[in-house]
Amino acid sequence: MSKSADYKPVTVPMIRQMKGATPIVCLTAYTTPMAKLLDAHVDLMLVGDSLGMVLYGMDSTLPVTLDMMILHGQAVVRGAQRACVVVDLPFGTYQESPAQAFRTSARVMKETGAAAVKLEGGAEMAETVRYLVQRGIPVLGHVGLMPQSVHNYGGFGARGRVAGEADRIMSDAVAIAEAGAFGMVVEGTIEMLARAVTARVPVPTIGIGGSPACDGQILVTDDMLGLFPNVPKFVKRYAELGSEAAQAIATYADDVRARRFPGPEHCYGSIKRA
Ligand code: KIV
Repeated sequence: MSKSADYKPVTVPMIRQMKGATPIVCLTAYTTPMAKLLDAHVDLMLVGDSLGMVLYGMDSTLPVTLDMMILHGQAVVRGAQRACVVVDLPFGTYQESPAQAFRTSARVMKETGAAAVKLEGGAEMAETVRYLVQRGIPVLGHVGLMPQSVHNYGGFGARGRVAGEADRIMSDAVAIAEAGAFGMVVEGTIEMLARAVTARVPVPTIGIGGSPACDGQILVTDDMLGLFPNVPKFVKRYAELGSEAAQAIATYADDVRARRFPGPEHCYGSIKRA
C-alpha cells in the first residue's frame, strides 16, 4: 500500500523534540487493522515483543523470534500512515555484540520499513546503542523493569524499590541517553524514580507503570481495551472488549444452534437467467 500524500508522518526527531513540550502518546500494535485504528491518535506505535504473550500465549517474551517481529512489523507499517513505528529487538538477537545488534536492526529496518528499533538494557548496552546510532539506526531504549530479564528478577514486579537498584536504573538511563538513544521506555519503577529519570535525561521518557511526569505514556493496547481479565495495576481499562466479544460469540453460538442464523438477509438470492 502506498502512503497517501495528505498526512505528515511523525519522525524520530519530532518525537525527540516533544520532550518537555507536549505529552507523547504511544500504544502497542501488532497487526494492520490495529495500526489503522491507532494511526490518527498516537505519535508512536510500538511493535512490542509483548506480542509473544499477548498474541501467542507465551509465558514470557523470551521465545519471540526475529522472524515473528519482522512479520508483525511489516503488518503494522502497512497500516500506519502517520505514526512513528518502532520495532522491538527480541531476546538473543542483539545482546551478544554491537555487530550482532547491527545485523539484526538492519534486517528489521530494511524488511519492515519501521523508523527505529527498541532494545532493553542500560549501561551494559550503551556501547551497542552508540554503535547503532552512529550507523544510522535510531534506538529507543528500555530501562527499569525489562521483561527479557524476567528470570533475573524472578517475576514482573516493580523495580527500583531499594536504593542500590534505583541508583542503577538512573545510571542506566543516563548511559543510554549519552550513547544516543532518542528516548527510552521507563517500565515498572516507583513513581519517584521515573520522575527523577525524566528530569535528569535530555531525551523523552515513555512511562509504563512509571510516572505521570514521564514525557509520554505507553500501554499494551490489548490490556487497555480490556481483552484480558487480569492486567497489571498500572493499566487503565478504557473498554471491556473481552466481555463484549464473549457475549457476541455466545449469542452467535445460540443462534446457530437454534437455526436463527443465517437469516434470509444473509443468503444469496435465486438463480439468475442469462
Ligand atoms: O513489548 C512491549 O510491548 C513493550 C511495552 C510494554 C513498552 O516493551
